[in-house]
Amino acid sequence: NHYAILMAGGIGSRFWPVSTTQYPKQFQDILGVGSTLIQTTFHRLAKLMPSENIIILTHKDYKKTVKEQLPQVKDHQIVLEPEMRNTAPSILLGALKIKKKNKDALILLAPSDHWIQGDVAFQENIEEAFQIVASEDKLITLGIEPTFPNTGYGYIQYKKDDAEGAKPVLKFTEKPSFKKAETFIEEGNYLWNAGIFIWSAAFIVKSFQKYQPETFRLFEKGNEVYNTEKEQEFLDENYHKTQNVSIDYAIMEKSDSVYVIPAKFKWNDLGTWKSLEDELPQDEDHNTMVDGRLLPINSTGNIIKTKNNKVVVLDGLKDFVVVEDDRVLLITPKKKIQEIKALREKAIEKF
Ligand code: GDD
Ligand code: MG
Repeated sequence: NHYAILMAGGIGSRFWPVSTTQYPKQFQDILGVGSTLIQTTFHRLAKLMPSENIIILTHKDYKKTVKEQLPQVKDHQIVLEPEMRNTAPSILLGALKIKKKNKDALILLAPSDHWIQGDVAFQENIEEAFQIVASEDKLITLGIEPTFPNTGYGYIQYKKDDAEGAKPVLKFTEKPSFKKAETFIEEGNYLWNAGIFIWSAAFIVKSFQKYQPETFRLFEKGNEVYNTEKEQEFLDENYHKTQNVSIDYAIMEKSDSVYVIPAKFKWNDLGTWKSLEDELPQDEDHNTMVDGRLLPINSTGNIIKTKNNKVVVLDGLKDFVVVEDDRVLLITPKKKIQEIKALREKAIEKF
């Protein structure tokens, strides 16, 4: 009764201009390891359950790409959202579909854009969580030891005790301000939310009923048609009526049944260009080169990605991101990395 929901409908806007609406980062081999992020994630999940128990939630524009990259996946495993409404609506939909198949189902919810090292440790963490939610009404998340006040993550304040297993969460704060993030890290009993959740189908549905009653009522009406050929028609008619909100704001910040298990594996969100610094080799001046050849002169701490293996000559550039794509050349200071999302919107509006 183990199932997984693979979330693959985001556009990865902070990885612009390489991640685009047409071709988001989860469908790319960002680190140059020979497989795309969604392929790597799918194979990791397939070690924990029969692969037909994995469903992939994505926007309908990405159907072709999903099928190309994961040819083993059957059509009925791919759920096509007619509109981007963030993660909460799709997670409820996925849970209702799985619950209809198996009322005792346990669900692992996994984003498709993470880099994880330590598959065995990952499996142990997930198995432990599955065991807990099999008999207890808990929403479990995996927590990562924070290293700096990253404002792009959720912060989990947990109850300090020496007890093994899942720790009760006192407060969940999604994407805090920099100031708040700083105090959280100073206080010490905070973990980053890895965005990997484990719960029973029944309990997450119940949590939606309590904290997202409108979306719950809307999707409950579709119960008869889920997993049938009439499902898509229902979604086309109703999906856009849901509240556009992420699971973190919709449920995790509100629920009093949240528990955290500290992750034992190495995790990287690959959310921004800066995250590549942790995963890719750097030269002695801390420049990170993704593609191309670099000649740095008095230049330190830059992140560079070119097209077609170009020679890049930098003179006197410090802590910048330089990314070249077919249509766009982006040059922005590294400290403004979280603002690439807004830069992208401006550029799209103007050109
Ligand atoms: N199907 C579907 N539909 N998937 C979506 C949608 C959608 O509308 N929007 C986003 N996703 C997918 C993304 O592709 C990604 O795999 C996952 O859901 C998470 O969305 P992000 O947009 O990447 O979230 P985030 O990184 O800003 O924040 C979340 O993850 C952090 C850790 O990576 C939160 O859960 C944070 O609390 C957490 O720290
Ligand atoms: Mg993310």
